[in-house]
Amino acid sequence: MIILAIETSCDETAVAIVEFKKNKTKVLANIISSQVKAHSKYGGVVPALAARMHLKNMVPVLRRAFKQAGKHTPSASQPTPLKRGIRCIASQSVSLKRGIHFDKNKIDYVAVTKGPGLIPALVIGVSAAKALAYSLNKPLVGVNHLEGHIYANWLTEFEKSIKSKVYKVSKDCKVENDFKLWKPEFPILCLTVSGGHTQLVLMKKDLNYKIIGETVDDAAGEAFDKVAKLLKFSYPGGPLIEKMAKKGDRNKFKFTRPMINSKDYNFSFSGLKTAVLYEVCGFCDRKDEAVPRLYGNQYKADISASFQQAVIDVLISKTVRAAKKHKVKNVILGGGVSANKELQKQLKEVINKEIPNTKYQIPISNLSTDNALMIAIAAYYNIINNKNIKSWKNVKADANLKLR
Ligand code: KG4
Ligand code: ZN
Repeated sequence: MIILAIETSCDETAVAIVEFKKNKTKVLANIISSQVKAHSKYGGVVPALAARMHLKNMVPVLRRAFKQAGKHTPSASQPTPLKRGIRCIASQSVSLKRGIHFDKNKIDYVAVTKGPGLIPALVIGVSAAKALAYSLNKPLVGVNHLEGHIYANWLTEFEKSIKSKVYKVSKDCKVENDFKLWKPEFPILCLTVSGGHTQLVLMKKDLNYKIIGETVDDAAGEAFDKVAKLLKFSYPGGPLIEKMAKKGDRNKFKFTRPMINSKDYNFSFSGLKTAVLYEVCGFCDRKDEAVPRLYGNQYKADISASFQQAVIDVLISKTVRAAKKHKVKNVILGGGVSANKELQKQLKEVINKEIPNTKYQIPISNLSTDNALMIAIAAYYNIINNKNIKSWKNVKADANLKLR
């Protein structure tokens, strides 16, 4: 089964083409076009700009994905230059330089992120997916973005016996070619930490989600981005805070750990962000009048390390408590913040120490932040469980789509 998946929920235009076979999953293409530079000067994602850039990038990213897929599955007979144009129309195949082309009729399903996310951004991906599904006469699978972050963990167990080339599909997105899908033991607890969400999700079986805790205000990634802005770092702030934190003292500032002792599994990060604001800007009546003190790099490093540790402490405390209570077999991470190596390391240490029988797993590199490969994997599980397989007419973007 070959799935073409599209992701445009925020500021990445992404397309993946994945072949799912019985014992092997082959990533034929995984392209991500990031808009980070464009949004960076505004200190965050501007929805209308994101939409315009998705519109500009959608077809080039699709073309690049077809080109990449063509390298893995070149059609048996390469067309002559004369036939090439005809084939393009007749069999919907893409002809590219050096005769590499991918036959789009090999696609069995089109999948797309239908929500949650920025609606101007989502509609571009959904429209492109509808057009593809219509023109290829294939079903369309609408996928929840958060389900994608969870299922990014299923692409695992790289098949070492199959000699596979590591190919670079874009500057920051390296993916090996052949994988086995994870066959986990349930229950699973997933900590999804992204720019828009912070959730603890309990799964008793595939596609079965119970949100047992979530943020009551800012998401963890949002707090990283806002603190970074305060320190005059560019967007997205998470990776830069992580980098600066390495040079800083995590005990220098005793920032609050909001809700760490609450009995539920909910989170709150806005108070922590304000605590950092007060430290950096000094106490002031109006936040908009606050002028950051002009401290040097060591100060910024100490703030970064102390803030990052406060976030990590809260995330680990709630996750491990929930894992114990629900006696889960696996704890997994998902979402952009899960790329944070310090969070990964400390969570692993605490799990090994306190619940050694629980396994711990993170997405393979580059699958923590937004991508379309995770959408293809989530779509695959929807398809084999006969869920969300629709006609292009019946798939709509939904900015507030809930995970259920
Ligand atoms: O999942 P994602 O790519 O997009 C959303 O669905 O929101 O997550 C993006 C978020 C941003 O807030 C970014 O600052 C954060 O993930 N992030 C990180 C790291 N890498 C990305 N936060 C902390 N440490 C990182 N290494
Ligand atoms: Zn995301």
